[in-house]
Amino acid sequence: MAERPYIVGNWKMNGTRAMLAQARSIDRAAQNLMKVEVALAPPFTLIHPVHREAEQIGVGAQDCHPLPDGAHTGDISASMVADAGAKFVILGHSERRQNHGESNALVREKGTAAIDAGLRIILCVGETEETRDDGKAESFVTRQFKASLPETLASPEESLTVAYEPVWAIGTGRTPTVEEIGAMHRAIRATLVELYGEAQGTAVRILYGGSVNAENARELLAADEVGGALVGGASLTAESFLGIVLAAA
Ligand code: G3H
Repeated sequence: MAERPYIVGNWKMNGTRAMLAQARSIDRAAQNLMKVEVALAPPFTLIHPVHREAEQIGVGAQDCHPLPDGAHTGDISASMVADAGAKFVILGHSERRQNHGESNALVREKGTAAIDAGLRIILCVGETEETRDDGKAESFVTRQFKASLPETLASPEESLTVAYEPVWAIGTGRTPTVEEIGAMHRAIRATLVELYGEAQGTAVRILYGGSVNAENARELLAADEVGGALVGGASLTAESFLGIVLAAA
């Protein structure tokens, strides 16, 4: 596992102000678990409230628009989420790719906008079950990753985190084996080194996401090149999320 594992909770479309109590508990516990970097990505409406509660944990957004402003009803720009207190944005999540038809090119544009707004990005990649069954998971993910990255990243080790999330493992209770996760993370690492060189390419963290919970976290986090976890369902209560944070500590 990485020197300082990064555990990020993605609340997806969950949470009203009643959930701020969970964020508060997570933040309080994180203050005593400095070996782990902890962050939450609540829905847009809770970014600022969570930011106000948080002394220790990082706060991020789950998406942003590729343009800085304009006539885009219902959309939120990168500078808006930064203004609300977000320090990072999750981009290219498979739920955005599937439910909103987001292409690699759009994810790339969003990433560029996010970096321009001073945000770090967590770039999600992952294959469907069909692609894995066809034996094409690594080539698919490598291609998807390269095509989704912002064109230029001055300091990838600071501005980029990669999250490998096999689509078929998200919210299903199923996970790849530790060997499969290690093989995919090594392929992503090789691509990072190819693109950014040894020093910067090895410093970018690669998270695993997909049905991580307090019971399986220790095993999954021990897989090769895993620098932390992107957690969905199990991040919705402080108790289950902190179980994962503790497993990483
Ligand atoms: O962003 C988080 C992932 O989609 C994982 O979700 O932990 O509910 O499987 P999950």
